[in-house]
Amino acid sequence: MPAVQFAVFGHPISHSLSPRIHHAFAQQFGIELEYRAIDAAPTQFDAAVRRFFDAGGAGANVTLPHKAAAFALGDERSLAASRAGTANVLTRLADGRLAAHNTDGDGMLRDLTERHRVDLRGRHALLLGAGGAAHGVAWHLLDAGVQMLTIVNRSPEAAHALVHAMGEPARARTRNWDELADLGGHDLIVNATSAGVLGVALQLPFTLLGSGAVCYDLSYGNAASGFLGWARAAGARYACDGLGMLVETAADAFALWHGRRPDTEPVYRWLRQQAA
Ligand code: ATR
Repeated sequence: MPAVQFAVFGHPISHSLSPRIHHAFAQQFGIELEYRAIDAAPTQFDAAVRRFFDAGGAGANVTLPHKAAAFALGDERSLAASRAGTANVLTRLADGRLAAHNTDGDGMLRDLTERHRVDLRGRHALLLGAGGAAHGVAWHLLDAGVQMLTIVNRSPEAAHALVHAMGEPARARTRNWDELADLGGHDLIVNATSAGVLGVALQLPFTLLGSGAVCYDLSYGNAASGFLGWARAAGARYACDGLGMLVETAADAFALWHGRRPDTEPVYRWLRQQAA
């Protein structure tokens, strides 16, 4: 019997760790699968996804810049995907329709609360950015018990729209980027901007860190190094990149497709060693 087919779509995609992660998970259960990286330019994305599923593909991960397009392709959409307006998992249903889901928020929470043992209940959190990545995690921070979530975006309109969509004015608010120096300290600062990916350094005041603050970048590798360097210099208790989140989001997709949740810790350690 041919191996069941899975893929990750992105542009570019050659750097993707997803094939390695999914093959490592599959090994834990002795599952035979084919998981490949498919590079699709934005104009080719819909057709490439259709071709993949028409040819028997069972599930796909989707990364930048296609997460909004993946959401649009979903015939069914999970609550997490609908809140975010983006999807990073597409699954073929028995009748051939596609289900869109977003595992980013759950993956971040699992990494923060289980791997790094950060208790978010009653905390003050600052979310930098209001684009696709920020939409994927904002609701989850409130779900985890954050007492006050302040969202700051370079263009204030996007932060206002996100806070409005969240509909919890007593627990989520916006402030302008030029007010950062006056905001005081936070327990958690999440960088959801794409500045690091674009190679731009954010200019952030050290006063944003409360005592024992945790700083978390949703990206990893070089893209996270600027923000994490700032966080360490500012005295953060933890400065974490999003590698753990990536592994947890992959595990959620794997569990959805195979009905079993893999042990993420050895895979996380292996990738961390390789990155060192
Ligand atoms: P992603 O899917 O990675 O979130 P996106 O939806 O394009 O990508 O969102 C990028 C986010 O990074 C936005 O919040 C953007 O701010 P604007 O809405 O003002 O564009 C933010 N961003 C990108 N470069 C930035 C920079 N140099 N300084 C501050 N914010 C930046």
